[in-house]
Parts: sequence; C-alpha cells; structure tokens
Amino acid sequence: MQRTLLSAAIGAAMIFGATASAYAATTLKLSHNHPRDHAVHKAMDYMAKEVKKLTDGEVRIRIYPDAQLGTQRESMELMQNGAIDLVKSNAAELEAFSPSYSAFNLPYLFRDKNHYYSVTGGSVGEEILSSSRESGFVGVTYYDAGARSFYTSKPIKTPEDLKGLKVRVQPSPSAIAMVKALGGSPTPLAYGELYTALQQGVVDAAENNIPSFSLSRHSEVSKYYSMDEHTMVPDVLVISTKTFDGLTKDQQESLRKAAKASSEYMKKLWAESEAKERTKAEKMGVTFVEPNKDAFVDAVQPMYKKIATSNPELSKLVERIKAVQ
Ligand code: GCU
Repeated sequence: MQRTLLSAAIGAAMIFGATASAYAATTLKLSHNHPRDHAVHKAMDYMAKEVKKLTDGEVRIRIYPDAQLGTQRESMELMQNGAIDLVKSNAAELEAFSPSYSAFNLPYLFRDKNHYYSVTGGSVGEEILSSSRESGFVGVTYYDAGARSFYTSKPIKTPEDLKGLKVRVQPSPSAIAMVKALGGSPTPLAYGELYTALQQGVVDAAENNIPSFSLSRHSEVSKYYSMDEHTMVPDVLVISTKTFDGLTKDQQESLRKAAKASSEYMKKLWAESEAKERTKAEKMGVTFVEPNKDAFVDAVQPMYKKIATSNPELSKLVERIKAVQ
C-alpha cells in the first residue's frame, strides 16, 4: 500500500514537473520563405537545437519554412503585430524597415568574400543589426547568402544585354536603382510569385544566388545563369524587440550564442550548397556564363555618386564599409 502510494506520489511529481517545465518553456515562432533543403533552413534548425540545449529547454524555436506564414514582408508585419517572434529576411527587404540595411544592397560594394565576412562579423555589421530597435525588431545574426547574378533565357554578358528586359527585383529601392542603372526594367515582386511570373513571361529575368535559383526551381524556366555577381546581400535573422526584451538576460545570451554558432556553421553549409546546386542546375541544362564584370561595375558608379551628394549618412556608412580590411 505504502509502496503504491509512494510510486503514485512520484508519478504525480513527475507529471507535475513535466507540466511545470512545459509551462515555463517559451516557444518562439520563426518564419522564412525557403524550403527545408535550403542551407539557411538547416543553419536555423541547428540554431534552434543549440538554443534548446543552452537554455535547458526553456526556449524553443519552431521554424515555419516555405512562406507558410506569409511573404517576407507579411512576416515582418506579423512580427511587428506580435503574432510571430522571428523572421529570416534579407538586407534588401529590410531596407524598407531600417535604412541602414540599404548599404548592403549596393552593387560591387564588397571586394571579396573575406571583406564581406569582416564587415558582417565586425562592428559595422553589429551596428546595423541594432539599428532597427525603435522600429520594433533587432537583428540577431547574418547568414551567408553568396553573390547574386542575373538569370534569363539568354546569356547576360554586358549590361547592354539587359536592355528591354523586365527584371524581377526584391521590393528594395536599391535593387530597383541598380537594375535601372544597368539598363533593365525593374519589376518588384515577392519571391513566391516569381516562378509563375518567369514561366508566364510576366518578367523576363531575375537575379539571385545559385542555391536559391536552383532550389526554387527557377532553373526549370531560366536556362542561362550569368555570373556577374553584382551584389552580396546578406540574409538576416531578426527578432521582435518585445520578444527579445521578454527573455531573461541568460536566455538572450544563449540566443545570441546559438545564432552566432549557426552563422559560422552556415559558411560551410553555404559553400557545399553552392557547389551542389550548381551541378544540379547544369544537369538540368542550365549554362553558367562568366561575363567580364568591368562594364557592370562602371554602369553602377552613378549610384555611388548620387548617394555621396544626396545621402550623407548612407555615404558615411558606405565609406566605413569600404575601409574595413
Ligand atoms: C534570397 C534570400 C531571400 C529572398 C530572396 C528573394 O533567396 O535568401 O530572403 O527572399 O533572395 O530574391 O526574394
């Protein structure tokens, strides 16, 4: 009898304990627009596991991929309304929410990948992540998103080849200005609408990194990918200010630590994914073209001149980025 009572008590304690800890756990919702086999999903999945480990299960992250909760813009709005906690977006989209991000959308800003890593991993990168606090969110980390290049049904070897083409861009003033400077007609569209838009000829061309081009199956409808590598636009994970401030100091620290580790892990995932998706696209009949970049670089210089005369704050930020070794 005593034994039965004791085990019942232990059982009850265990159930109560489990319930209590389940109650204590905070589950954060994260929205993004890529499929599960995209490197950025894998990196964030790793982050979610790390956060759970570092907080002893107190903080969990549930990831909603494939724009299940809406486009990047809709997700940002849901986050600002408190319906979700985290969004993986990118600097192009974030430009509309916090102007500092526009620096990252300027073509041929970075000298090379190392320069890009030094900037995003250094103090300027950190400053930009913190710049949006008053707009209701803060940047948690950057994720490598390679270089973006044009793709369409013909090779783009010089800016002349873009003449008369409707080029899908992200809803970003810098991306619009860039395509104009290169001679194309920019058409802003949400990412999820692009496959059909290319297929039906609503747009003629688009631009993105190789993994996104391949994993979104745009490679089925655009058979030339021209490596002009005009921008290196980082992916960015952001969290609502309210959610972040609602975490304890330890939990905030754990989230930052896990995010940083996942961003490092992403560098490896990204390189692997770029190679794998390029091979996959080639097998599907995509030709990769290597244009001479000089004419592209020249054509976008007026963008920098315009910033220098009309936007001193952005101009200063651009100079600081350029000065990073
Ligand atoms: C990249 C980026 C996405 C973005 C997409 C786009 O794939 O990772 O965040 O939505 O470009 O071109 O819209």
